[in-house]
Amino acid sequence: MDQRPDIHAQTASTMTKRLLRVLSGERCERPPFWLMRQAGRYLPEYRKLRGEAGSFLDLCYTPDLAAEVTLQPVRRFSLDAAILFSDILVVPQGLGQAVDFVEARGPVLEPICNSADLARLDGTDITARLSPVYRAVERVVQDLPENVALIGFAGAPWTVATYMVEGGITREFGVVKSWAFEEAESFQRLIDLLVDATAAHLIAQIAAGAEIVQIFESWAGVLPARAFERWCTAPVAAVTRKVKARYPSVPVIAFPRGAGILYEDYAAATGIDALGLDSTVPTKWAARHLQTKVPVQGNLDPRLLVIGGKAMEAAVADILEDLAGGPFVFNLGHGVFPETPPGHVEALARLLLDGRT
Ligand code: CP3
Repeated sequence: MDQRPDIHAQTASTMTKRLLRVLSGERCERPPFWLMRQAGRYLPEYRKLRGEAGSFLDLCYTPDLAAEVTLQPVRRFSLDAAILFSDILVVPQGLGQAVDFVEARGPVLEPICNSADLARLDGTDITARLSPVYRAVERVVQDLPENVALIGFAGAPWTVATYMVEGGITREFGVVKSWAFEEAESFQRLIDLLVDATAAHLIAQIAAGAEIVQIFESWAGVLPARAFERWCTAPVAAVTRKVKARYPSVPVIAFPRGAGILYEDYAAATGIDALGLDSTVPTKWAARHLQTKVPVQGNLDPRLLVIGGKAMEAAVADILEDLAGGPFVFNLGHGVFPETPPGHVEALARLLLDGRT
């Protein structure tokens, strides 16, 4: 059992961290903000460390380096949160699947194609295999400014399964959909394995000091509604139940990108504490149908952060007008692009902090 004092059992009135206050349902005079993929290739200091580390996975699995990269954007911009530097594909690796990141191509995995491949995966000691990730969390906590919250994360089972089965990035999802639609029972076994592994991975991050967790469902938008319920909603509900059984007061944010009107049922059925909105979600609709039930986070089109200037300012003003009246966390609707000028992030921060660039 975890021996440290329960840093997670604060009440709203004693919370100094703006992000935790909003996730508990408070509205703040200024919305807290952080950015998905806020650490990464758009920062020169990241590119330098990444070059020295050798590979992306070396960065992820070397606690001092992962902690340093996590803190880089926090030092530069006045963000309200740090998100652990890692990847959603450490979970398949922890299950025993071969995972590599190839320059200019992205992740490459040895695909899991059938029940026999599935039988070779082993979830029993996943948190031991991924222990460098938790050591990185501990290192971040040591250097985290006191008003900045630390977010841990994992991919949702369906999204991680798409990479595991397709062997990397896909446009069509042909292989994984064939398995899910034709042999739902054996595909369910892969999803169940991922539910347990994902919950264990999130719980270990929290035990190491993560104060919030986010579940990335990047490929929620490729499934028909009934399949979405079975392969996205139900597994995320199961992960959330397991995390809450151990850490009832740690907020869980879910980001079901592309879920459209299904966002509404998803919030209620999963039991999550806050919803990350992708850039296509109309903010007026979200204020009426989602924010009345849970705090929402989002949803500036990350392309506008590349463009900057008046176009970005106008889009930010629209989002604030529609969502800042309720519990709201400002973020992008997807991750920061590598070509984003850091100066535009600075301008965004100034806009959010004191209303001008
Ligand atoms: O947000 C953060 O700053 C924390 C770190 C983080 C990374 N990946 C680092 C990363 C997080 C939260 C992720 C999540 C992730 N990883 C998702 C879900 C969010 C999303 O973008 O939809 C997904 C689908 C992945 C899988 C993944 N990792 C892909 C498809 C790629 C290749 C595409 C790319 O951008 O290169 C990665 C690589 C990756 N993950 C990089 C970073 C900084 C780039 C690696 C490099 O330095 O070369």
